[in-house]
Amino acid sequence: MKKVTSFLGTASKKHTLGAVRQFVEYLEASGDVECEIVALSDYRLGTCRGCKSCFENGEASCPLKDDRGALIEKMQASDGVVFATPNYSFHVSGLMKVFLDRLGFVFHRPCFFGRTFTSIVTQGVYGGGQIVRYLDFVGSGLGFNTVKGSCFTAFEPMTEKEKQSRDRRLAEQSRQFYERLAKPEFPVPTLFKFMGFRMGRTSMRLELDDKSYDWRYYRDKGWFESDYFYPVRLSVFKKAAGRLFDWIAVRTARSRG
Ligand SMILES: Cc1cc2nc3c(=O)[nH]c(=O)nc-3n(C[C@H](O)[C@H](O)[C@H](O)COP(=O)(O)O)c2cc1C
Repeated sequence: MKKVTSFLGTASKKHTLGAVRQFVEYLEASGDVECEIVALSDYRLGTCRGCKSCFENGEASCPLKDDRGALIEKMQASDGVVFATPNYSFHVSGLMKVFLDRLGFVFHRPCFFGRTFTSIVTQGVYGGGQIVRYLDFVGSGLGFNTVKGSCFTAFEPMTEKEKQSRDRRLAEQSRQFYERLAKPEFPVPTLFKFMGFRMGRTSMRLELDDKSYDWRYYRDKGWFESDYFYPVRLSVFKKAAGRLFDWIAVRTARSRG
Protein backbone atom coordinates (compact mmCIF):
# COMPACT_ATOMS: atom_id res chain seq x y z
CA MET A 1 0.00 0.00 0.00
CA LYS A 2 1.40 3.40 -1.02
CA LYS A 3 0.45 6.56 0.82
CA VAL A 4 0.00 9.85 -1.04
CA THR A 5 -0.65 13.19 0.66
CA SER A 6 -1.85 16.29 -1.18
CA PHE A 7 -1.20 19.66 0.46
CA LEU A 8 -3.83 22.21 -0.55
CA GLY A 9 -2.85 25.89 -0.54
CA THR A 10 -6.29 27.48 -0.60
CA ALA A 11 -9.02 28.05 1.93
CA SER A 12 -11.73 28.35 -0.73
CA LYS A 13 -11.93 24.61 -1.40
CA LYS A 14 -13.23 25.06 -4.97
CA HIS A 15 -11.17 24.73 -8.16
CA THR A 16 -7.91 23.51 -6.70
CA LEU A 17 -9.60 21.05 -4.40
CA GLY A 18 -11.74 19.86 -7.34
CA ALA A 19 -8.62 19.13 -9.40
CA VAL A 20 -6.90 17.38 -6.48
CA ARG A 21 -9.98 15.24 -5.80
CA GLN A 22 -10.08 14.13 -9.43
CA PHE A 23 -6.33 13.36 -9.39
CA VAL A 24 -6.78 11.30 -6.21
CA GLU A 25 -9.72 9.43 -7.73
CA TYR A 26 -7.62 8.42 -10.75
CA LEU A 27 -4.67 7.50 -8.54
CA GLU A 28 -6.71 5.32 -6.20
CA ALA A 29 -8.21 3.55 -9.21
CA SER A 30 -4.67 2.75 -10.47
CA GLY A 31 -3.72 0.42 -7.64
CA ASP A 32 -3.14 -0.01 -3.95
CA VAL A 33 -2.89 3.68 -3.01
CA GLU A 34 -4.28 5.47 0.01
CA CYS A 35 -4.69 9.24 -0.37
CA GLU A 36 -5.16 12.07 2.10
CA ILE A 37 -5.91 15.71 1.27
CA VAL A 38 -4.48 18.16 3.81
CA ALA A 39 -5.79 21.74 3.68
CA LEU A 40 -3.02 24.04 4.90
CA SER A 41 -5.75 26.46 6.04
CA ASP A 42 -6.75 23.94 8.72
CA TYR A 43 -3.29 24.18 10.31
CA ARG A 44 -1.56 26.91 12.29
CA LEU A 45 1.52 28.02 10.38
CA GLY A 46 3.53 31.08 11.39
CA THR A 47 5.47 33.23 8.92
CA CYS A 48 9.22 32.56 8.89
CA ARG A 49 11.10 35.26 10.83
CA GLY A 50 14.35 34.73 8.95
CA CYS A 51 16.45 33.95 12.05
CA LYS A 52 18.12 31.00 10.22
CA SER A 53 18.19 29.04 13.45
CA CYS A 54 16.93 25.97 11.52
CA PHE A 55 20.07 26.14 9.35
CA GLU A 56 22.47 26.81 12.20
CA ASN A 57 20.95 24.92 15.15
CA GLY A 58 18.47 22.48 13.55
CA GLU A 59 14.78 22.72 12.83
CA ALA A 60 13.81 21.88 16.41
CA SER A 61 15.21 25.28 17.44
CA CYS A 62 12.64 27.23 15.36
CA PRO A 63 11.12 29.92 17.61
CA LEU A 64 7.67 29.44 16.02
CA LYS A 65 5.58 26.92 17.91
CA ASP A 66 2.85 25.81 15.52
CA ASP A 67 1.73 22.88 13.37
CA ARG A 68 4.74 22.72 11.03
CA GLY A 69 6.00 19.51 12.67
CA ALA A 70 2.66 17.76 12.09
CA LEU A 71 2.74 18.70 8.39
CA ILE A 72 6.33 17.50 7.97
CA GLU A 73 5.42 14.22 9.70
CA LYS A 74 2.69 13.78 7.11
CA MET A 75 5.24 14.30 4.33
CA GLN A 76 7.63 11.84 5.95
CA ALA A 77 4.88 9.24 6.28
CA SER A 78 4.08 9.52 2.54
CA ASP A 79 5.50 7.72 -0.49
CA GLY A 80 4.20 10.53 -2.68
CA VAL A 81 3.30 14.18 -2.21
CA VAL A 82 1.27 16.71 -4.22
CA PHE A 83 1.55 20.47 -3.72
CA ALA A 84 -1.63 22.14 -5.03
CA THR A 85 -2.22 25.86 -5.16
CA PRO A 86 -4.24 28.51 -6.98
CA ASN A 87 -2.31 31.18 -8.89
CA TYR A 88 -2.45 34.29 -6.70
CA SER A 89 -0.87 37.38 -8.22
CA PHE A 90 1.27 35.24 -10.55
CA HIS A 91 2.68 33.03 -7.82
CA VAL A 92 1.68 30.34 -5.34
CA SER A 93 -0.88 31.40 -2.74
CA GLY A 94 0.38 33.03 0.46
CA LEU A 95 -0.67 29.92 2.38
CA MET A 96 1.52 27.72 0.20
CA LYS A 97 4.46 30.14 0.29
CA VAL A 98 4.38 30.32 4.10
CA PHE A 99 4.52 26.51 4.14
CA LEU A 100 7.44 26.43 1.66
CA ASP A 101 9.41 29.02 3.65
CA ARG A 102 8.96 26.89 6.77
CA LEU A 103 10.46 23.97 4.81
CA GLY A 104 13.49 26.14 3.97
CA PHE A 105 15.90 23.99 6.00
CA VAL A 106 14.97 20.93 3.89
CA PHE A 107 16.46 22.64 0.82
CA HIS A 108 19.74 22.70 2.77
CA ARG A 109 19.31 19.14 4.04
CA PRO A 110 17.10 17.34 1.48
CA CYS A 111 15.57 14.13 2.78
CA PHE A 112 12.74 12.97 0.51
CA PHE A 113 14.84 10.82 -1.84
CA GLY A 114 13.11 7.91 -3.55
CA ARG A 115 9.67 9.50 -3.05
CA THR A 116 7.42 11.00 -5.72
CA PHE A 117 6.23 14.59 -6.12
CA THR A 118 3.96 16.50 -8.44
CA SER A 119 2.14 19.85 -8.52
CA ILE A 120 -1.33 21.09 -9.43
CA VAL A 121 -2.02 24.78 -10.14
CA THR A 122 -5.36 26.40 -10.96
CA GLN A 123 -5.93 29.91 -12.29
CA GLY A 124 -8.39 32.30 -13.89
CA VAL A 125 -6.31 33.62 -16.78
CA TYR A 126 -2.52 33.58 -16.90
CA GLY A 127 0.82 32.90 -15.20
CA GLY A 128 0.35 29.37 -13.86
CA GLY A 129 2.87 27.68 -16.18
CA GLN A 130 5.79 29.29 -14.36
CA ILE A 131 4.24 28.36 -10.99
CA VAL A 132 4.17 24.70 -12.05
CA ARG A 133 7.85 24.97 -13.04
CA TYR A 134 8.63 26.64 -9.72
CA LEU A 135 6.83 23.98 -7.67
CA ASP A 136 8.45 21.15 -9.62
CA PHE A 137 11.84 22.75 -8.90
CA VAL A 138 10.86 23.00 -5.23
CA GLY A 139 9.93 19.28 -5.15
CA SER A 140 13.26 18.39 -6.67
CA GLY A 141 15.10 20.63 -4.18
CA LEU A 142 13.42 18.81 -1.30
CA GLY A 143 14.84 15.55 -2.70
CA PHE A 144 11.75 14.10 -4.43
CA ASN A 145 11.54 12.43 -7.85
CA THR A 146 9.35 14.94 -9.65
CA VAL A 147 6.57 14.17 -12.12
CA LYS A 148 5.74 17.21 -14.29
CA GLY A 149 2.86 19.18 -12.78
CA SER A 150 -0.22 20.71 -14.43
CA CYS A 151 -1.93 24.07 -14.65
CA PHE A 152 -5.69 24.39 -15.21
CA THR A 153 -7.33 27.59 -16.43
CA ALA A 154 -11.03 28.21 -15.88
CA PHE A 155 -13.54 30.70 -14.57
CA GLU A 156 -16.29 29.57 -12.29
CA PRO A 157 -18.35 27.60 -13.02
CA MET A 158 -16.21 25.37 -15.25
CA THR A 159 -17.73 24.44 -18.59
CA GLU A 160 -18.15 20.75 -19.43
CA LYS A 161 -15.43 21.13 -22.11
CA GLU A 162 -12.97 22.65 -19.60
CA LYS A 163 -13.72 19.87 -17.14
CA GLN A 164 -13.15 17.17 -19.77
CA SER A 165 -9.85 18.72 -20.83
CA ARG A 166 -8.73 19.03 -17.17
CA ASP A 167 -9.65 15.42 -16.46
CA ARG A 168 -7.76 14.12 -19.51
CA ARG A 169 -4.60 15.84 -18.30
CA LEU A 170 -5.15 14.67 -14.70
CA ALA A 171 -5.60 11.08 -15.88
CA GLU A 172 -2.22 11.27 -17.66
CA GLN A 173 -0.53 13.00 -14.70
CA SER A 174 -1.86 10.41 -12.24
CA ARG A 175 -0.70 7.58 -14.55
CA GLN A 176 2.85 8.98 -14.63
CA PHE A 177 2.75 9.62 -10.88
CA TYR A 178 1.60 6.06 -10.16
CA GLU A 179 4.40 4.61 -12.30
CA ARG A 180 7.04 6.53 -10.30
CA LEU A 181 5.33 5.67 -7.02
CA ALA A 182 5.22 1.96 -7.75
CA LYS A 183 8.93 1.91 -8.65
CA PRO A 184 10.87 4.03 -6.15
CA GLU A 185 14.03 5.25 -7.82
CA PHE A 186 17.33 6.83 -6.87
CA PRO A 187 18.20 8.26 -10.28
CA VAL A 188 21.53 9.57 -11.49
CA PRO A 189 21.18 13.36 -11.07
CA THR A 190 21.07 15.75 -13.98
CA LEU A 191 24.28 17.73 -14.49
CA PHE A 192 22.59 20.81 -12.96
CA LYS A 193 21.55 18.97 -9.77
CA PHE A 194 24.92 17.29 -9.57
CA MET A 195 26.66 20.66 -9.82
CA GLY A 196 24.41 22.04 -7.07
CA PHE A 197 25.34 19.19 -4.74
CA ARG A 198 29.10 19.23 -5.39
CA MET A 199 29.58 23.00 -5.27
CA GLY A 200 27.16 23.39 -2.34
CA ARG A 201 28.73 20.71 -0.17
CA THR A 202 32.30 21.80 -0.94
CA SER A 203 31.66 25.44 -0.13
CA MET A 204 29.78 24.39 3.03
CA ARG A 205 32.71 22.18 4.09
CA LEU A 206 35.15 25.07 3.71
CA GLU A 207 33.07 28.02 4.79
CA LEU A 208 31.25 26.56 7.82
CA ASP A 209 32.43 24.43 10.72
CA ASP A 210 31.10 22.10 13.39
CA LYS A 211 29.25 24.94 15.11
CA SER A 212 26.76 24.76 12.19
CA TYR A 213 23.97 22.15 12.24
CA ASP A 214 24.04 22.00 8.42
CA TRP A 215 27.79 21.25 8.53
CA ARG A 216 27.41 18.50 11.18
CA TYR A 217 24.51 16.98 9.22
CA TYR A 218 26.58 16.77 6.02
CA ARG A 219 29.56 15.35 7.94
CA ASP A 220 27.40 12.71 9.66
CA LYS A 221 25.76 11.71 6.36
CA GLY A 222 29.20 11.40 4.72
CA TRP A 223 28.16 14.01 2.14
CA PHE A 224 31.52 15.84 2.25
CA GLU A 225 33.15 12.76 0.68
CA SER A 226 30.32 11.04 -1.23
CA ASP A 227 29.68 11.33 -4.99
CA TYR A 228 26.11 12.50 -4.40
CA PHE A 229 23.38 12.55 -1.71
CA TYR A 230 22.84 8.81 -2.24
CA PRO A 231 24.86 6.08 -3.98
CA VAL A 232 24.84 6.41 -7.79
CA ARG A 233 26.85 4.97 -10.68
CA LEU A 234 28.46 7.97 -12.35
CA SER A 235 29.78 8.02 -15.91
CA VAL A 236 33.45 8.91 -16.44
CA PHE A 237 32.27 12.32 -17.69
CA LYS A 238 30.20 13.00 -14.54
CA LYS A 239 33.05 11.87 -12.28
CA ALA A 240 35.35 14.37 -13.97
CA ALA A 241 32.66 17.06 -13.82
CA GLY A 242 32.25 16.37 -10.09
CA ARG A 243 35.96 16.96 -9.48
CA LEU A 244 35.76 20.16 -11.53
CA PHE A 245 32.75 21.45 -9.53
CA ASP A 246 34.56 20.69 -6.24
CA TRP A 247 37.63 22.53 -7.53
CA ILE A 248 35.60 25.59 -8.59
CA ALA A 249 33.99 25.70 -5.13
CA VAL A 250 37.42 25.50 -3.46
CA ARG A 251 38.69 28.38 -5.63
CA THR A 252 35.61 30.46 -4.90
CA ALA A 253 35.89 29.83 -1.15
CA ARG A 254 39.59 30.79 -1.19
CA SER A 255 38.94 33.97 -3.16
CA ARG A 256 36.38 34.98 -0.51
CA GLY A 257 39.12 34.62 2.09
C1 LIG B 1 -6.04 37.19 -4.60
C2 LIG B 1 -6.20 36.48 -5.90
C3 LIG B 1 -5.24 36.64 -6.87
C4 LIG B 1 -5.36 35.99 -8.10
N1 LIG B 1 -4.39 36.17 -9.03
C5 LIG B 1 -4.49 35.52 -10.22
C6 LIG B 1 -3.48 35.67 -11.22
O1 LIG B 1 -2.48 36.36 -11.04
N2 LIG B 1 -3.62 35.02 -12.39
C7 LIG B 1 -4.72 34.23 -12.66
O2 LIG B 1 -4.80 33.67 -13.74
N3 LIG B 1 -5.67 34.04 -11.72
C8 LIG B 1 -5.61 34.67 -10.52
N4 LIG B 1 -6.58 34.50 -9.56
C9 LIG B 1 -7.68 33.55 -9.83
C10 LIG B 1 -7.44 32.20 -9.16
O3 LIG B 1 -6.16 31.69 -9.46
C11 LIG B 1 -8.48 31.15 -9.60
O4 LIG B 1 -9.76 31.63 -9.37
C12 LIG B 1 -8.26 29.82 -8.92
O5 LIG B 1 -8.87 28.81 -9.70
C13 LIG B 1 -8.86 29.79 -7.52
O6 LIG B 1 -8.70 28.50 -6.98
P1 LIG B 1 -9.54 28.02 -5.69
O7 LIG B 1 -10.99 28.06 -6.07
O8 LIG B 1 -9.06 26.65 -5.42
O9 LIG B 1 -9.18 28.97 -4.57
C14 LIG B 1 -6.48 35.15 -8.34
C15 LIG B 1 -7.45 34.97 -7.34
C16 LIG B 1 -7.33 35.63 -6.14
C17 LIG B 1 -8.35 35.42 -5.06
